[in-house]
Amino acid sequence: MPGTLIVHHHARHKTYPGEVTGFVFFACLIASVGGCIFGYDIGLTAGLTSTEAFMVQFFPSIYDEMKKQVIVNEYCKFDSQILTLFCSSLFLSATVAAFLAGPMGRSFGRKWTMFAASSAYVAGACLGGVAVNFPMLLTGRILVGAGVGLCIHASPLYISEMAPAQQRGMLNILFQFMCTVGILTANMTTYVASKVDGEWGWRIGVTFGAVETARATLAQIRGLSDVREEFEDLTAACEDGKAVAHPWRELFFGGKYKPQLTFCIFIPFFQQLTGINVIMFYAPVLFKTVGFKQNATLVSSVITGLVNVFSTFVATLTADKVGRRALFLQGGTQMIISQILVGTFIGLQFGMSGTGAISEQYAMCIVLFVCVYVAGFAWSWGPMGWLIPSEIYPLGVRSAAQSVTVAVNMFFTAFIGQIFLTLLCHLRFGLFYFFGAWVLVMTLFIAMLLPETKNVPIEEMAHVWRKHWFWRKFVIDNSDARGAEMRKRIALEMS
Ligand code: BGC
Repeated sequence: MPGTLIVHHHARHKTYPGEVTGFVFFACLIASVGGCIFGYDIGLTAGLTSTEAFMVQFFPSIYDEMKKQVIVNEYCKFDSQILTLFCSSLFLSATVAAFLAGPMGRSFGRKWTMFAASSAYVAGACLGGVAVNFPMLLTGRILVGAGVGLCIHASPLYISEMAPAQQRGMLNILFQFMCTVGILTANMTTYVASKVDGEWGWRIGVTFGAVETARATLAQIRGLSDVREEFEDLTAACEDGKAVAHPWRELFFGGKYKPQLTFCIFIPFFQQLTGINVIMFYAPVLFKTVGFKQNATLVSSVITGLVNVFSTFVATLTADKVGRRALFLQGGTQMIISQILVGTFIGLQFGMSGTGAISEQYAMCIVLFVCVYVAGFAWSWGPMGWLIPSEIYPLGVRSAAQSVTVAVNMFFTAFIGQIFLTLLCHLRFGLFYFFGAWVLVMTLFIAMLLPETKNVPIEEMAHVWRKHWFWRKFVIDNSDARGAEMRKRIALEMS
């Protein structure tokens, strides 16, 4: 039936209309709230590391280094493991939480898992907001990370299951859209907070997240009650996953899920290797490195935040029309070109030694091409990094595979966060070539290995692999195998 999504649940067959009704839209919007919380923390990381009062309190030696009039090497002035540990700790705890999300959901139900997620988040944000030393700050961030990891395990999956096949791309990208809104909100909060005298500014920024989360989660839980029947269907559909006795074993060693396993690891891995979080976490630091003043750095990160939000819209409107592959390939090419240009501009001004000052024109060009790069990401690897995994996993291993996706994403977010400042110090402007080379590799990967999934109902996704020039060799099709066996037997009997 064209335009219709059929949800198989036990013996029942339910048909949800193949159009985006107000209800479907509302349900997807509610489910995408997790994206906002996730984004807020990404944006906050960037803002905090460029807030003076915050740096003075927790990282005084780096602050002194920043203030020095004569800088020996611009590329290395922020290189500090403690600063990057602060940044990546949240994502490391989210990595662990991603593995707990499935079992917790099964044992305590989705609602309580969400409740646990928001409690951890609120407690962590409050602790961060009142922190007077680094251990308090770090503990707060670890708690926030646990909340984020639990939260983003479910959101993309639910949206993709809920959405009619023809609009699945558009609705799923709501998650990424909310994430970009979260990042922008954090950028703006930090900007406003930086105008507040003393330490209150950043404390407001950190706790604001908690207040918003508490509200969003309440709305989410209330919303879930309103749309209970359908959500129960979906939860039950996920519960059917239990029919596979050992989903983890099946996924990794069953041999049946080779394409899914490949993508559940490589999509999030590559998404982080685009280098996007270098911009999201460190845009202010980066802009400061190339000589911007304090105010200008924060304004620039608000600009990149805006570009991120608006460009995500492009993906929302086009993913179900031009398809996922076209967006990946176009966005990837755009990112490679802009990364080469940003690296070259920085290199021309600072050279290998990292000394010198950047002219205003060059600084403008850098901001411009950083924006072109962010736009490319925002309609390719950003939304597709969550959309593709959420639509290709079969029911039995869906929860386990999504845990892997979230964990790989979070781990490499932490990893890039941790090594970026050291990489910048050693690779200098070559850092942008480094990420550009990775984007080239991943674009070729997509070109050769990703089948188009637009408009394909989730339950029919298996055909997509069967038709693909590479993956068809790995898809075990029982009926075909049985057929071949029978044909062989008949041939033998007849001879
Ligand atoms: C990524 C984040 C990134 C964000 C930027 C998300 O899809 O997972 O790591 O910061 O996009 O918009």
